[in-house]
Amino acid sequence: MRLFFALWPDAAATAALADMAAELAQLTGGKAVAAAKIHLTLAFLGDVEDARRGQVHSAASRLRCKAFDVVLDHAGSFRGARVAWAGSLVPAPGLIELQGALAGELRGCGFPPDERPYAAHVTVARKISRPLARRPIAPIQWRARELSLVRSELGKGSYAAVAAWDLL
Ligand code: 2AM
Repeated sequence: MRLFFALWPDAAATAALADMAAELAQLTGGKAVAAAKIHLTLAFLGDVEDARRGQVHSAASRLRCKAFDVVLDHAGSFRGARVAWAGSLVPAPGLIELQGALAGELRGCGFPPDERPYAAHVTVARKISRPLARRPIAPIQWRARELSLVRSELGKGSYAAVAAWDLL
């Protein structure tokens, strides 16, 4: 199954991000990401054989990372992927620590990290037809208290929570 680790915003941040999604989709000629699907990816694993699921769960259980505040204060777009996003000018140290520790644990059990450097972002619009110049936004924030493992169901285009681990 196709899996990824992510942080899910709380209700208030989701609502603010959904508003931003509508606004940026209009600006860029893209399609707003549905509120229920808005998230911040920490690691994308791709297709994982059932036999290796246990390794993924153990990797996450070994983490000892602290809860932290995610503060999204900028918007922009990735031209290649044709997405518009909300992100942080300077990502929270807790976020960098969690992403690095998770990537390290995953690498240790044979899941190679993405070749591209990690760029923390929340995709809010897809299939954009106009790029969005990087700009400050009114900050949107939430307390990241848990790490989620999520299944992406390609055909249905939906996400399903598989497991979650508390941050300390
Ligand atoms: P995106 O939002 O920038 O598209 C589920 O697909 C999540 O994993 C998305 O948040 C997506 O990022 C992220 N992701 C990272 N690398 C990916 C890849 N190679 N293919 C699909 N999704 C990827």
